[in-house]
Amino acid sequence: MSLLSLNTALTEAVGQLPNSDTPRLDAEVLLCHVLGVARSYLYAWPEKILTAHQSAQFQALLARRAQSEPIAYLTGRKEFWSLELQVTENTLIPRPETELLVEQALARLPHDSEAQLIDLGTGTGAIALAIATERPHCRVLATDKSAAALKVAQANAIRLGLHQVEFVLSEWWAALADIKATVIVSNPPYVAAYDPHLSQGDVKSEPQSALVAGVDGLADIRQLIAQSFSHLLAGGWLLLEHGYNQAEAVRTLFEQYGYEAVTTYNDLAQLPRVTAARKPNL
Ligand SMILES: C[S@@+](CC[C@H](N)C(=O)[O-])C[C@H]1O[C@@H](n2cnc3c(N)ncnc32)[C@H](O)[C@@H]1O
Repeated sequence: MSLLSLNTALTEAVGQLPNSDTPRLDAEVLLCHVLGVARSYLYAWPEKILTAHQSAQFQALLARRAQSEPIAYLTGRKEFWSLELQVTENTLIPRPETELLVEQALARLPHDSEAQLIDLGTGTGAIALAIATERPHCRVLATDKSAAALKVAQANAIRLGLHQVEFVLSEWWAALADIKATVIVSNPPYVAAYDPHLSQGDVKSEPQSALVAGVDGLADIRQLIAQSFSHLLAGGWLLLEHGYNQAEAVRTLFEQYGYEAVTTYNDLAQLPRVTAARKPNL
């Protein structure tokens, strides 16, 4: 194998990723991962020669990317709320849209006094850890039914020094007894079982158990709205992420179960993606 400069390796790599919408970017991110450098390094040292070992590692990653493996699974990393999180094939890859859920939860949590936040279905820990960085006085409990995902979330908390976050293996509320929260958040599975999106893009590599929720995509949301009411303090909030076309159904469910102040928020693409509702202050 002839040794290539960074620039030549990147130019050749673009041709090896015909199915990617962003082949140059993908190649740069993968090469940075191999070299352990920031992207600026590629532009500062374009003539630097790759070692044979580096070239082989880069080629192996390109081959996997050409088979449509998500970049985050290849690098094992994804940024969320400016936190670098470990991700694995056992976790959903955190999405930028989910930052809207974090923003709305923060708007309902006090800055300086204690409160209890519960993140149901935490995956990598993205939501719980983002909130824990912003509200150090808040007690944070994060759950998942996947032991493998919970292990990743715990490792992320330790690496980020967020020791106030507690993790519990639980099918929704099953293992949580009578705990009550100021704010409950969840980005649950909400894709319908036969949705064609499940076979496209990154989604087709992600765990189905993190994505699919019955034939209409609302099975978990229904359960969470019904079961979370008794786990909220009076005046406490439940906030759920949902599909862009599920807002009306979610609002109706909240109203049926006795919540008030039901409000839907749009993401940056102006799609309705988060609905919040309060337990009345009787
Ligand atoms: C859409 S992912 C969200 C992951 C993470 N909160 C995020 O936003 O990136 C849904 C998560 O809920 C978990 N989950 C699915 N069904 C569950 C259940 N019945 N009980 C607890 N967790 C569940 C999955 O394992 C997955 O980690």
